[in-house]
Amino acid sequence: MIIAVDGPTASGKGTIAKALAAHFALPHLDTGLLYRAVGRQVQLAGGNPDDAHVALAACDFPDALLGDQILRSEEVGGYASRVSVHPAVRRALYERQRAFALQEGGAVLDGRDIGTVIAPEAEVKLFVTASTAERARRRWLEMTGRGIAADLAEIEADIAARDERDMSRADAPLMAAPGAQMLDTTTLGRNEAIAAAIAAVQAARA
Ligand code: C5P
Repeated sequence: MIIAVDGPTASGKGTIAKALAAHFALPHLDTGLLYRAVGRQVQLAGGNPDDAHVALAACDFPDALLGDQILRSEEVGGYASRVSVHPAVRRALYERQRAFALQEGGAVLDGRDIGTVIAPEAEVKLFVTASTAERARRRWLEMTGRGIAADLAEIEADIAARDERDMSRADAPLMAAPGAQMLDTTTLGRNEAIAAAIAAVQAARA
């Protein structure tokens, strides 16, 4: 079974995808991490993420980079969003994601275009959303919890800018795949969101 989990940043899709993978005993790929690694590689080289050639060259990042905690930072997230606009970058990362989706027994992938581009044949497609204000609040809590000084209004503005870029790009924009089940986590706690997602998967398979 392939489970595609798409949605904007801080919607809860990562948490949900991880929990679904554990519940259904499937391997999980956080595809955002691949774009973050490309963004980080550009940043390390002091390059311009808006330059398609520079971004494409960075797709050769070493695998060890995927384990670097710095990939989780807001700054790298901004680079990731900018490199992900380039069709050549999306093409370069396609095979790796496609192979993961097609492994025997199935997989859970989360990202922006899993249900639309990477695995349109997925048996289950979820599109996870939450209000911008709630997503900003979650990100703020997460950052301050890690001891990082953060400004709520600034985070909300960054999230809105990232959404706009992800939704308006010509190649594989962020959108719900046809037939995707919508899951709004704005008023749901972590466990409630996970329970709702498990129920949605079970309903889709029934
Ligand atoms: O999900 P995450 O915030 O880690 O993703 C970082 C960025 O990578 C997103 O803002 C998006 O621009 C890009 N991305 C993408 N397609 C995916 C996953 C992530 O374009 N499947």
